[in-house]
Amino acid sequence: EQINKGKYEHYMQKEIHEQPESLRTTMRGRLIRGGSSKGKTVLLGGLKDHLKTIRRSRRIVFIGCGTSYNAALASRPIVEELSGIPVTLEIASDLIDRQGPIYREDTAVFVSQSGETADTLLALEYALENGALCVGITNTVGSAIARNTHCGVHINAGCEIGVASTKAYTSQIVVMAMVALAIGADTISNQARREAIVDGLIDLPNKLKDVLKLDEEMKDLAKLLVSEQSLLVFGRGYNYATTLEGALKVKEVALMHSEGILAGEMKHGPLALVDENLPIFVIATRDACFSKQQSVIQQLHARKGRLLVMCTEGDAESVSVGGTCRVVEVPRVEDCLQPVINIVPLQLLAYHLTVLRGYNVDQPRNLAKSVTTQ
Ligand code: G6P
Repeated sequence: EQINKGKYEHYMQKEIHEQPESLRTTMRGRLIRGGSSKGKTVLLGGLKDHLKTIRRSRRIVFIGCGTSYNAALASRPIVEELSGIPVTLEIASDLIDRQGPIYREDTAVFVSQSGETADTLLALEYALENGALCVGITNTVGSAIARNTHCGVHINAGCEIGVASTKAYTSQIVVMAMVALAIGADTISNQARREAIVDGLIDLPNKLKDVLKLDEEMKDLAKLLVSEQSLLVFGRGYNYATTLEGALKVKEVALMHSEGILAGEMKHGPLALVDENLPIFVIATRDACFSKQQSVIQQLHARKGRLLVMCTEGDAESVSVGGTCRVVEVPRVEDCLQPVINIVPLQLLAYHLTVLRGYNVDQPRNLAKSVTTQ
């Protein structure tokens, strides 16, 4: 049933639109709300016997490629916050190139939709040799990464056919938020925060359904941008990863140059690119960085930047510099889950840009769904 396009024209389109359902299957049976003395909590069968070891580790290292790496980046803040353990990130090929240090006291988490990516597998071999506890987060039961790690979590997003990953990305972030909850579950101090995240997760499929209503709006935006050569995406904090992943979608399917930019680095180079022609998408949804993003918008506007702003519903006025910028409003969720919502308009934009530009949506030139050679 999953391996046909149903009412959709392309697999990528179908997979974007089935995210409310894929998130539900990712969370099915894993969230427990109320009832027990422990309150709202999370149950990850594949991790439970290893949680003690993970809590004792000196560092958590996330390792992946492409979209899977971006999902790990999106999850880093909440894993750090709830675990209190330093989190680092490695692009698998770079870890191998550097033969970077991996220790027995490390927990190495391998994130891969296919579970077969050559570089990620090599990095896994390397981490096993170095004695780290190896955890797999994959979408493919029985894949090499699922088989060769000590323990793990399946994301259960369902089969993903489009080369550009969409629903696997949002499910990966949800799984990593659940992993963060599981690691932090024995700490009293963050109990209220954990419970708010569990509530946020339970409501997330509904919020995803709401954000998909932006489809037509993003199609209109795609019409506006169809002949552009380049698109910058600015964000920070929880949504730095959203900038990289949004730009990756635009690049890989719409074949348009696009770059995700950490807004905190704006003055260290990117500002030189700003003029009245280059479109810049600024992510300024509500979280602890909101006022900093408002200031970024002001500064880009002062340099005549051509701005498109993503903000939280109801915030249009506070981000549009007197109505001069085009605004996309998205539903608000718990801050650490906001990347799951914020990526959707960018997935839709990349999809519509690709169709309008006449490129192959599901099999972009030169790319493969699973990169099994080096
Ligand atoms: C390829 C795919 C991407 C994917 C990346 C990593 O580049 O086109 O969509 O993110 O590989 O794949 P993995 O299966 O390890 O997540």
